[in-house]
This record gives sequence, structure tokens and C-alpha cells, in this order.
Amino acid sequence: MGRLLIISNRLPYTIDRSGEDIVVRQSSGGLVSAIKSCLERTRAQSDHFTAQIWMGSLDASKEDWKILNDMDALESDFSIEPVFVDKEIYDAYYNGFANSILWPLFHYFPSLVEYKKEYFQAYKLVNQAFADALNKIYQPGDVIWVHDYQLMALPQLFRQYQPDAAIGFFLHIPFPSYELFRLLPSEWRQYILLGLLGADLIGFHTHDYVQHFIQSVKMLLRVETQYNSIYYNDRIIKADLFPIGIDYRKFRDAITDEAVVTICTRLEEKFYDKKLIFSVDRLDYTKGLDHRLKSFEEFLERYPEWRGKVVFIFNVVPSRKVIPAYVDRKRKIEEQVSTINGRFSSLDWQPLIYRFNHLSFEELCALYQTADVALITPLRDGMNLVAKEYVASCIDKGVLILSELTGAASELSEAILVNPTDSEEVATSINTALTMPLTEQRYRLSYMQKRLAEYDVKKWINDFLDQLAFVKGEQDKLK
Ligand code: UDP
Ligand code: G6P
Repeated sequence: MGRLLIISNRLPYTIDRSGEDIVVRQSSGGLVSAIKSCLERTRAQSDHFTAQIWMGSLDASKEDWKILNDMDALESDFSIEPVFVDKEIYDAYYNGFANSILWPLFHYFPSLVEYKKEYFQAYKLVNQAFADALNKIYQPGDVIWVHDYQLMALPQLFRQYQPDAAIGFFLHIPFPSYELFRLLPSEWRQYILLGLLGADLIGFHTHDYVQHFIQSVKMLLRVETQYNSIYYNDRIIKADLFPIGIDYRKFRDAITDEAVVTICTRLEEKFYDKKLIFSVDRLDYTKGLDHRLKSFEEFLERYPEWRGKVVFIFNVVPSRKVIPAYVDRKRKIEEQVSTINGRFSSLDWQPLIYRFNHLSFEELCALYQTADVALITPLRDGMNLVAKEYVASCIDKGVLILSELTGAASELSEAILVNPTDSEEVATSINTALTMPLTEQRYRLSYMQKRLAEYDVKKWINDFLDQLAFVKGEQDKLK
């Protein structure tokens, strides 16, 4: 029995400093939501692991980190091991290779990729820094679980230090088709694939992503594969499908939480005679925000009977603020919001409420519970947890309109599935959702809720770790 070591670029806390004030908030994004819930939920399983450690890079100085620790502001379900990296290198790794090369390419936006050699160098340096930091705390018997595209080289780099370690890797974003992946220069793509093959088990959200990965391994490395098994360097490595779940219980419990109920009551009083449409996403070009606004505008054009009767609460969470593709997107959607509001508002009604902020958990749950419709239309998304959280939060009404280009679409088939680029289809679907009989809404929700309750985040983590133990067992048999 050893410890569970989780390694991701993003740690669960982000430190915002303004002058003397230091504010700690939960980091945004699905990876943090999922892993934090996992670690909170597995704490009780002390028979599994003797301790849980989360290693990641920190957007803060060592001094702020020390203040934070002294404040006792952190939770006790797991301990944190921050990795500090030189700012310039970190920028080229995070804003550069991770988010201006891998992120756009893996989400099918090849035109946004910036092929810069210095970004690749920084990616190598930071992955190596993680391997060194991990090696300092590693003890035999520990289980290592590396997360996401920022650290795809880490499994192999760490294996060079610890050849027998149990290493799992999970990719939270799509793995693109071979035709896209091969756009990377050959040194880069080899480095990434070989990096991943340092793991014993490589997990993806969907069957397609597993197949894309195996296809790239076969075409580019010419190694032997059989179904989901890859034979490399006398080791057997498995690639498999583990669709991530949510902490279903947490969202159901929020229904009776006093703070959430108070916000719901306020919303219901304010919008008692309106239907509410809701969305929340990080500000990201993959989320299809401008297409969504265009579809909403088309809906107001095509269905004038809804004017004055529907309000779209459009929440955008700040993200990756220095990357030009993100800054441009913000300007564009803000222009669209003012155009729509300018065009359709009356003295006593405004169709869009736009917010650019982080939401508290309570506010998020209250919005999920109150919204009549959730409009979740990314152009590409590895999974999309917001869609699952919305369905989990619905009490006796609610319709999910979901992009078919999300990983979640394959599990949430009772949602109204749409192509986010087809504004006419999305506009019609909004009308269908708003007029859907309650019995049908409840029937669809009950199927999806049952599935989400069964395959929750705890099941996800257990399945992944059981499979990792199984692969290690298979490897031992071959020795
Ligand atoms: N979320 C957040 N801060 C907010 C609003 C939402 O962290 O202000 C959470 C939300 O609850 C969800 C996650 O961010 O768990 C978004 O995950 P998703 O998979 O939908 O998209 P990602 O941001 O990971 O691309
Ligand atoms: C997605 C990625 C995560 C990332 C999150 C937030 O969910 O898969 O790895 O942490 O977005 O993005 P950020 O760049 O702020 O970490």
C-alpha cells in the first residue's frame, strides 16, 4: 500500500494578489473540478492509499505560497507539492507550447497553431522539471497519475528515473485524428508519443480518442499493437476509454443547501414570468461562444413570440488572458452581446445578461437548478462537465441542448443534440426546448441522471486505478 500522487499543471487553488490582499479561489476548469472531487471522495478509502499528494505548478511566488500555507487556507484531504518554474520558461511552455500549439491542434483549430521552436524547448524543460520534482518525493509503492496535455512527456521522463513505477496518464482533451496530429514536426510528435508510452495505462474520454491515439502510434512509431495494447520496449501498455464522471451526490445535495436555496429564490422572484436559458464556459474559442450568440439572435428573429419572455444568462469565465486568440474572442463576443441587446431590448426587457467572472459553487448550482434550458454548444470539447453538472442539478424540469462535438454527447443521448455551427438548427432547438412538455423533460432527465449517478467521478477513479493495477500485473507475468 503506497501513496497516490496526482500530477497536473494546474493546482486546485489559484492565488490572486492585489497589493497587500491575497485571495485564494478554486482554479477553473473541468480537470480541477474532477480531481478535487475524486480526492475528497477517496479520502475515506484509507485502505487504498496511505496519503494523497497533488503536484502542480503554481501561478504565485514562493512567498505567497508560504503565506497561504501559514493561513491554513488549504484543505486537508490531500497535500500539495508546488513546482516553481522560471517565469519566462513557464510562459513559453504554458501560453506557448501547451496553449498555442497542443490546445488548438487537438481541438481541430490548426490555423491557430504557432509552430515556434522555443515553445517546444520550454515544454521539454518544464516536463523535465516535473520529473525531477516527482523523483524527489517518490517512494516505491506510490501510484503516479499524470493528467493532461501539458505533461505528456512526463511519464517517459519519470520512467527513466524509476523503471518499475506504476504510472497512469489521462488526457482530458480530445486526441485528434492522425491527419491532424501529423501536422506537428516529426521531432515534436515523436517526443509526445514516446513520452506517453512511458505510462502503463493511458486513458481517454471516448472510444474515438483511443483509436486516434493508437492510429498515430502505429503510423508514426511503427510499434506493435493489438486492440488497445501497445508493445514497446518489452513492456505492454494499455490505452483505454474512461469517460470522466461528476460528483453527482455533491450536485444533488446542493438542492437543499441553504445558500443555494436563497439564490434560487431570488432568481425565481426576479424572473418569475420569464423562461431562463443558461450557459457557462471558460472564455475559449473551442466553446463556440460566438456561434452560440449568433444562434440566439437567430432564435429571436425567427420566433418573435418569445421576445420579452425569455432571458439568456450568458456566463463567461476568464481564462488564458494573455494569448491573442483568447483576447480577440472576448472583444468579439462583447460586441455581439451589445448588438443583440441593442437590437432586441425594450424598456422593460433585455434578452442577454452577460457576465465575465468566476462563479461561486453556490451561484453555479442555483443557476443550474433554475434554468429552463442549458445551451452548451462547444465547437469541440474533450468531455464537457458543465453539461453533466446541469443535468445532475435539475429537479423537476430542464432541457439540455448539447453540441454533438463534445465527448459528453455520446453519454447524454437524451439531450437535444445539435451541430453548433448550424445556427438554424440551434435556434429551432431552443424553441423546441422552451416548448417541451414537462413530462418529456422529466423522462429525458431521469435517464441521463440515472447514468450520471451510476458512473460518477468515484467510479471513474476506481476504474482507472483498478485497470492500472491490472496492467502492472500483466507486465509482471511477462517478466
Ligand atoms: N466552473 C469553474 N468556475 C466557474 C464556473 C464553472 O471552475 O466560475 C467549473 C464547472 O463547474 C465545471 C468546469 O468549471 O466543472 C468546466 O469544465 P468543462 O469540462 O465543462 O470545461 P473546461 O473548462 O474544462 O474546458
Ligand atoms: C481544461 C484543460 C485543463 C485546464 C483547464 C483550465 O479543462 O483540460 O488541463 O486546467 O482547461 O485551463 P487552465 O489553462 O486555466 O489550466
